[in-house]
Parts: sequence; structure tokens; C-alpha cells
Amino acid sequence: MENNKREEWGTKLGLVLALAGNAIGLGNFLRFPVQAAENGGGTFMLPYFISLILLGIPLMWVELTMGRFGGNRGHGSMPGMFYSMWNNRWSKYIGILGIFTPLIIVIYYTYVASWTLAFSFFSMSGKYFGAESRETMGAFLKGFQGVQSNNYFSSIMPAVIFYLITLVLNVYIISKGVSKGIERLANIAMPLLFIMATALAIRVLTFGTPDPANPENNIAAGLGFIWNPDFSQLTNSTVWLAASGQIFFTLSLGMGAIATYASYMKKDDDVATTGIATAGANEFAEVVLGGTIAIPAAVAFFGLVGAQEIAKGGAFDLGFQSLPVIFQKIPLGQFFGFIWFLLLFFAALTSSVALTQPAMAFLQEEFRIPKERAAIIVGLVIFICSLPVVLFLKHGFLDELDYWAGTFGPVLCAFLETIIFVWIFGMAKGWEEINRGATTRIPKVFFYIIKYITPAFLFTILATWFYQSAIDVLLMKNIDPSNKPYVWGARLMMLAIFIGLAYLVRKSWRMKEQGHKIRQDIQD
Ligand code: PHE
Repeated sequence: MENNKREEWGTKLGLVLALAGNAIGLGNFLRFPVQAAENGGGTFMLPYFISLILLGIPLMWVELTMGRFGGNRGHGSMPGMFYSMWNNRWSKYIGILGIFTPLIIVIYYTYVASWTLAFSFFSMSGKYFGAESRETMGAFLKGFQGVQSNNYFSSIMPAVIFYLITLVLNVYIISKGVSKGIERLANIAMPLLFIMATALAIRVLTFGTPDPANPENNIAAGLGFIWNPDFSQLTNSTVWLAASGQIFFTLSLGMGAIATYASYMKKDDDVATTGIATAGANEFAEVVLGGTIAIPAAVAFFGLVGAQEIAKGGAFDLGFQSLPVIFQKIPLGQFFGFIWFLLLFFAALTSSVALTQPAMAFLQEEFRIPKERAAIIVGLVIFICSLPVVLFLKHGFLDELDYWAGTFGPVLCAFLETIIFVWIFGMAKGWEEINRGATTRIPKVFFYIIKYITPAFLFTILATWFYQSAIDVLLMKNIDPSNKPYVWGARLMMLAIFIGLAYLVRKSWRMKEQGHKIRQDIQD
């Protein structure tokens, strides 16, 4: 890659804020509370923290290191990173996972992000005020999503308009590049996000006992619900899968998103400290702020039984139905609703640019496409592929993409990436890379964790999945028959995207091997 000048982060703080923006997302404020509440509250936290130490932090270091290594060799996406660590014809194809997974996620993530933007407007204008129960708020949400037509919304157009605004914003930011686009966004959005989340957490903690007639519905009970351990759940493999899955999702691991950001680090930038700072910021936002807001508020207003039911209804029920009901009951509710949804929007936007960047880096570097044009291409692909998500929302299209890209894919990708890092690249070399430029040395015990425990843990998760659910999932045992054609459609779309990416990887390597001027080749 001759005279290929790569972009770089402007400042160290900017790098950490960008990585924190990458990791802190809807996962922290919506997915985490639901997972914790559904999987035994305090009990969930034990497998959660164990997964953080044995999977999250080690993989954060591995991905940052791989990213910096690949980036210094001109590759910001996983096919090239794997190839520079393992000179084998197959390594680049394994790396497709690091473009495929974030691309699939961003196809629905941006759409959900746009709901938060819409709802921040609806809060400010008081549009949903009057829909005072979870049921009526559910109708409001469904009307907005175009799932049903009712007296709140008669068409899906508002949702489409907010979606286009969000997608265009996303594309605009990445078209500006890494330091002028992503970093600048993070520098503004992240401090605001922490301020808003802290303000909301304090507001929730001061709810006390909102309804004196129901004294058992109070904030202490809400915090207890999240934090009291139920040890009977500890041997339940479902809880372990949920906890490790949440660690992947919330830290953006196993998708190439962290590695791509790291590829814009300088040769001796500190991976060790950056990794801890990113994970620390994310965990603070998740466990302290995310854990204090939604579920405790739900318990204070709906009671334990109500909150449990809400958690079963999922993240959207909690965030878009139940909390808006609460906003209608408190003073300055319009304002707090606005803050809640704006917080979610900032969290989501800084994550959705991170999900878009691997594909951007791939086009820019492996095909030498200028960033403005690459942004438009990726934006169009996202838009086209998201149409079925928007139109077939109620038929489980989004859920199917989320299952493979949000739950299964990252574990597989992380497993393969650790194998390449530890056993092919070599742990001794890898350890040296991790520590190069580090201001504080990582405890040596992590050498062994990364070498043995992390891959063994990942293997166990995969093996458990194959044993417990592979057949049911593949044969769609738990899918409503009427949704099956849509689910097949989602699978076909993913297959097509994967094959398309494989074709592009093959093509770009061919071109490099033949020493062609790549730009000309792309233009015809
Ligand atoms: N970590 C983000 C969240 O918590 C989601 C995400 C995954 C973002 C992968 C980027 C890459 O919402």
C-alpha cells in the first residue's frame, strides 16, 4: 500500500470519547436493564462481571491491538487486519465477519435510533400526552411504526421521515471522516450524554414513593429488584448466555467496530489504558446510570409485578411505552421525556456511525474510493436493505437480523479472532503488541486469560449454543408460522450480503495481486 496516508484521531481524549461513543449505545440504557431484570436481577450481575473480566476486557485489548496493527499496515477493516496477521488465503474471508456483522446491525439500529429522535420531538411537543396507559402508549408506538393505523398516526410517513433524517445525518458525519466527523460528534455528544443521563438518574432516585396509596412501589424496591441476587439462577446456562451476550453487545465486541476505530491510532498509542478507559466509561454508563434509570422508575410507578411484565415486553416496551407513561405523571414531564429520548438518540448516533465505519474503511482502503463517495454507497446499501425492516417490522424481520448479527455473530467472530491472535499470530508477539506504548503494564495474569480462558469461554458458549438451540433456531421452531416467509427473506438477504462481501474481498485482493491501479478498475 504505497503512500497511503491514513486518517488519524486528533487527540487522545477524542479517541477515548469516540470509543466510548462507540460502546455506549441503546445497549446501555435499554438492553441492559431488560436483560438484568429478566435474568434474575442481582444474580445476572455475577455472570455479567465475570464475563466482563474474562471476555470483555481481554477482547477489548485484543481488538484494539489488532486494529492498531492492521491500521499501521493500511487496513481499517477486518479482512485486511486478519490478512496482515495471518498471511493465508482464507484469513481475509474470515475477516468478512467484521464488515458483515456491523452492516447488518446498522440496518436496523439506525431505524431504532430514528424512533428516539422522533420521540424526543413528540415529548417536547406533548404529542403522546393523553396516552396515559401502557396500552395506549403501545398503540401510539405501533401507530408510529406503521404496524397499525390508529387515531395517533394514519401512516408510516412520519417514521420514514425521521428515519431519513437520522440516516442522512449518519452518512454526513462519516463522510467528514474520522477526526472531523466521528471525533467531533463524540466531543459534543458524549459530555452531553453523561450530563443528561446523570440528571435523569438523579430524577429517578428522587421519585421516592410516587403513590402513597401503594407504598410498596418505591425506588428502594426498584433498586432492590435490579440488585438483589437470586442465586437459584446462577447455574442456569440461559443466564450465562444472556450475560456474556450483553457484554459483547454493550462493548461493541466481535463486530470489527472497535478494531476499525483502533486502526486510526498511531503506532505507539496506548492500547492498554485506552481499553480500560473505554470499558470503564461504558460500564459506568451501563451499570450505574443505565441500571438506575429505566427499571427502578418502572418499579416505582408500576410495581414489581408490572415492571417484570414490562421487562418481558422487551426494550421497546420499557423505553417507548412505559417511561412515557411515567413522564405524563411527573412535573416537567415533557422536559424529562425530551431528555430521555435525546439521551438515547445521542447514544445511538455515536454507535451507528461506529457500525458504519468498518464498511467505510473497507471501501476507502481496499478500493481506494474517496470517503464522500464511500459514505454515499454505504448509505444507499443501508437504506435499501432497511426497507424490509421498516415495512415488515411486525413480521420479525428486525428480530431475525438481530439474532444473527447481534447475538450469534459476535461470539463466532470473537472466537475466530482470538484463535488468530493467540494461536496463529502468537500470544508472545501479541502480548508485546498489546503492551507497546502502554503507560501502565497490564497484569501478567491477562496473558494467560487471553491465551487460554477467553478462547475456552468462547468455545463453551458456541458449543452450548449448538447443543441447546442450533437446530431449533435453524428450523425456526419458535417462529410464528405466518412470519416464516419473512424470516426466510431476512436470512436470504443476509446470505446475499455475505456473498457480495466475499466477492468484493476476492476482487480487491485480485486487483492488488495483479498490481492494477485499483481506482480505474472500480470506475468501470
Ligand atoms: N455497543 C452498542 C450499544 O451498546 C452497540 C454497538 C455494537 C455499537 C457494535 C457499535 C458496534 O448499543
